[in-house]
Amino acid sequence: MPGLVIVGAQWGDEGKGKVVDLLAERADAVIRFQGGNNAGHTIVRGDEVFKFHLVPSGILYPGRPCVVGNGVVVDPRVLTDEIDGLRKRNIDLSGLRISANAHLIMPYHLLLDQAGEARLGKREIGTTKRGIGPCYADKAARLGIRVQDVLDEKILKQKITAAIEPKRQALRDYAKDPLLDLHTMTEDYLAFGHRLAPYIADTPPIAWRALDEGKLVVFEGAQGTLLDIDHGTYPFVTSSNPVAGSACVGAGVGPKSIDEVWGVAKAYSTRVGAGPFPTELHDAVGERIQRAGGEFGTTTGRPRRCGWIDLVALRYAVRVNGLTGLVITKLDVLTGIEPLRAAVRYTGPEGASFDDFPYHQSVLHRARGDYEELPGWEEDVTGARTLADLPANARALLELIEQRLDTPVVMVGVGPGRDQMIWTDAAESVRSRARVA
Ligand code: IMP
Repeated sequence: MPGLVIVGAQWGDEGKGKVVDLLAERADAVIRFQGGNNAGHTIVRGDEVFKFHLVPSGILYPGRPCVVGNGVVVDPRVLTDEIDGLRKRNIDLSGLRISANAHLIMPYHLLLDQAGEARLGKREIGTTKRGIGPCYADKAARLGIRVQDVLDEKILKQKITAAIEPKRQALRDYAKDPLLDLHTMTEDYLAFGHRLAPYIADTPPIAWRALDEGKLVVFEGAQGTLLDIDHGTYPFVTSSNPVAGSACVGAGVGPKSIDEVWGVAKAYSTRVGAGPFPTELHDAVGERIQRAGGEFGTTTGRPRRCGWIDLVALRYAVRVNGLTGLVITKLDVLTGIEPLRAAVRYTGPEGASFDDFPYHQSVLHRARGDYEELPGWEEDVTGARTLADLPANARALLELIEQRLDTPVVMVGVGPGRDQMIWTDAAESVRSRARVA
């Protein structure tokens, strides 16, 4: 049982962190392959709550190799803060490894992200303003600063100078910002380099070795399929590829290393930031879901837009990622809502009907869900540990999802706690086939 990829099947915030955390218990390595500190994972351990933005979710298992892969963009200020926070709580960080080829978010990336959004005004994307887009843009322009560069003062200075030069015009309002002073920036980043040095490594061999030995490697995606820069609702997307194919690129392994791809989806839908959302609710049900689900961003605290589960978009996610299993999270949030709805097709402009996710932006912006209605349930589901423990109407919703997506539901989340998860036989068999070193 080698490679298992965990991706978001919606617009992010599906609860991937918890799923990865549970699987990491038996995994030999956990590797993050894209995104940056635009992501936020919350993990509850007993009374303790851990919030991560960059460190992979497996870090709470002492010594477990946890890799920040080459495809991730790293804000070293955030990463060093996260490391300090974990150290203070006596978490063993000996397994943490950061790819020397990962790109660094620089102070000017943060400023450019803010300036770009301000320039767009009402047409803003609603980014997390963490500098993600400008950092990936520099990577593609071959002007990026990589983790390995902070280990050499001369190279670092040269690269920063080259990276800033073409941005002078865009950064002119910040010309006097002390953060942009070449000397200060170089000093700050050398200091980060010094702090991060023990963790910097050539990371693909960590995956290769574990895969060669038939051990479980979990590839941890951030954001979600519909935020993918190629396959999402462009331009209202992030600047990386959260889809499963990107696990190979962002971790340095070949496609044959991937055995299973599980997509994580909530039992409803949410989206942060702007962009099309065909099943969005603007009523009391939407507010109820937002409240019951605690739908406020881990990273920015922004309220998330809420809506019904969208089986058209999820069917698309199944194809784009090649999903072999679905993890449905937060089923408990739907308790007491009557009736429930699931979008099974869209109505677009001029009443056109769409069975498949429309590729055209103008269509998608005006598409609205056509729903299948299901009876809800009143029973508390938070104690369910098998599918049989669920009320029949909750099982019916899961069956509708499986049938419409032609993909098995492998795990079901029924509450925030670690134990509040239903493991189906399929998921158990992955877990039990895994060997821990
Ligand atoms: P960026 O990734 O900060 O550039 O933001 C681009 C879009 O992706 C915005 O709509 C963000 O709200 C969204 N986004 C980025 N990261 C996440 C995430 O982890 N969860 C949910 N939405 C995200």
